[in-house]
Amino acid sequence: MAQDNFRIAVIPGDGIGKEVIPVGMTLTDQAAAICGFSVEWTEFDWSCDRYVEKGSMMPDDAIEQLKQFDAIFLGAIGWPTVPDHESLWNSLIPMRRELDLYANIRPVRLLKGIESPLRGREAGDIDFVVVRENVEGEYSSIGGRLYGGTEQEQVSQLSVFTQRGCDRIMRYAFELAKQRPRKLVTSATKSNGIMHTMPYWDERFKAVAAQYPDIETNQFHIDILTAHFVQHPDWFDVVVGSNLFGDILSDLGPAVTGSIGIAAGGNINPERVYPSLFEPVHGSAPDIAGKGIANPIATVWTAAMMMAHLGQKDCEALLMSTIEAALQDPAGRTADLAGQATTADCQAVLSRHLASNA
Ligand code: IPM
Ligand code: MG
Repeated sequence: MAQDNFRIAVIPGDGIGKEVIPVGMTLTDQAAAICGFSVEWTEFDWSCDRYVEKGSMMPDDAIEQLKQFDAIFLGAIGWPTVPDHESLWNSLIPMRRELDLYANIRPVRLLKGIESPLRGREAGDIDFVVVRENVEGEYSSIGGRLYGGTEQEQVSQLSVFTQRGCDRIMRYAFELAKQRPRKLVTSATKSNGIMHTMPYWDERFKAVAAQYPDIETNQFHIDILTAHFVQHPDWFDVVVGSNLFGDILSDLGPAVTGSIGIAAGGNINPERVYPSLFEPVHGSAPDIAGKGIANPIATVWTAAMMMAHLGQKDCEALLMSTIEAALQDPAGRTADLAGQATTADCQAVLSRHLASNA
C-alpha cells in the first residue's frame, strides 16, 4: 500500500523563513487532503534566535533527530545577530554534509503570469535546472589564518574536489537530463583561471559524459556562462556546477525568470539513505522580514518538490497548477512581482485557487 502519512521536520529558521514556512505547510496540508494522504509536521526552533538565547543554533543530536523523518522543510538560516559563517556552519552546512545531501536541485522556469526582466521572453521560453554540488568544492573548512594582526597576516582556504564528489553530481545531472526532452547537460567551469580543481572538474565531466552518449553536452567558463544566462537563457536544460558556481547560478537563474521570491530548491540525498531537505533559495531577507510582505510562492514550489520526492506526484502537480493560477491573479502578487499583496493575501489567493483547481 502506498504511504499515506509522512513525517516532516520543519525548521522555519530566521527572518522571512518564519513567515513563509507556515504558508507552505497550510497549502501542503490542503493539497494532501485532496490527494488522500496526510503530513505530520514536527517543528524545531533551530535558528539565530536560539543561538542568542541558548548559545547554539541547534542541539548536539540535531542531525540524529532529523534522520527520523521522511523529509525536512527549512525556511532560511541567517540573521544579523550572529556572524553568517558561524550560524551556517553550525546548521545548514553540517546538515547538508552529514545527511549527504550532495545534490542541490534548483529549477529555473519562467512561469505564466510572471514578467521576466528580459525583453520578449514568454512562459516556457526559459526552463532549466541548476544541479549544484552541495557538500564539497569551494565550501571547505580547511584553511586558516597565520600571523594574525601582524604585517605578515595571511589567510588561505583550500577547495576540495574528489573524484567521487564530481562523478556523482555529474551522473545526477545526466540522469536528470535523460528524463527531460532536451537532453543537454552544460558544465560550469573556470579551467582557464583556476589551475588544478577546474581542469580536474572538466576531466571528470568528460569521463562521466562518455557514459551517456545520448546526452548532448557543452561547457562554459563561469564568467561567460553568467552572461549567457541573461542573453540566452533558452540555451540551457541541465546546468551542473561546483558548490560555489552552483550557488551563484541558482540566484541568477531565478532572477532572470522574474523573482528570487519564487525560486525553489531541494537538497537531495539521491540514495535515500537520509531524508532530503527542501528550502526556498531566497534566504532570510532581513530587509523585508517582519513586514508580512514576503512572497510565499518559492516555499510552496519547494513543498511541491518535496511532495514529488516523497512520491506524491499528483500533489506536486496540484501545487504547481495552483502556483501558476495564483501568479496570473493580480490579487496575489507580492512586491517582488510588482504587486501589493501581503504574504497573507498571497496565501488566500493560493488557497482559493487550490480549492477550485482540485
Ligand atoms: C544557498 C545559500 C547558502 C549557500 C548560504 C546561506 C550558506 O546561499 O543555499 O544558496 O551558499 O549554500
Ligand atoms: Mg545561495
